[in-house]
Amino acid sequence: MTGAVQLKLNIGCGTSGIEGWVNIDNSPTILLSRLPFGRRIFRTPDWPRGVLRADVRKRIPFGNSSVSCIYSSHTFEHFTYEESRAVARECFRVLRPGGILRIVVPDLGIMVCDYLAGNADPMASHRFISRLLLTASVRDIVHAGAHHKQMFDARSLARMLQEAGFLAPECSTFGRSRIAEIAGIELESRRSESLYMEAVR
Ligand SMILES: C[S@@+](CC[C@H](N)C(=O)[O-])C[C@H]1O[C@@H](n2cnc3c(N)ncnc32)[C@H](O)[C@@H]1O
Repeated sequence: MTGAVQLKLNIGCGTSGIEGWVNIDNSPTILLSRLPFGRRIFRTPDWPRGVLRADVRKRIPFGNSSVSCIYSSHTFEHFTYEESRAVARECFRVLRPGGILRIVVPDLGIMVCDYLAGNADPMASHRFISRLLLTASVRDIVHAGAHHKQMFDARSLARMLQEAGFLAPECSTFGRSRIAEIAGIELESRRSESLYMEAVR
């Protein structure tokens, strides 16, 4: 691979895309932000320059075995289980052998532990349910990241990745990765509630 361009994808980048990566998102506000004065008129999020608008549930728009690594933070929980497996299969298809997939999702296990630890709080059950963000709302029309369609723990995330073809997904921790530039992409703000998992194609 010496001298070859390393293609790196950030799926569901939101506004946290980084230089040198293909930042992918399907928010309709990307289109609005590209209209003359669109950012100001529609107060769209500050999308990364060159963000690629694509719905990865349909297809990841790259060829077989063409990508070195894929990062995705707080996006797979916005798919149904079947959709997430289909997207992970697409990741498997586009990754080169030895390529890395790193997925970060909210950790149901952490949230359940927090709930059980909060037994002095009479409203802990309500706080727990609203933290899961499982209720659809009108916000979903403009923001595909507004509510969750599923929640993962380490076992269900590993199972989903195995069903997509990744033989040995491994739990990881914040900032520890086979991806060399992880410090530039992983978000400290997600650290306390996240589950990190990495798999090699
Ligand atoms: C909660 S945000 C996460 C943003 C960022 N990665 C982070 O961790 O803060 C989820 C992002 O996934 C994007 N998204 C949801 N469904 C998608 C799809 N089918 N294809 C591409 N992007 C999608 C949403 O538009 C949203 O920007």
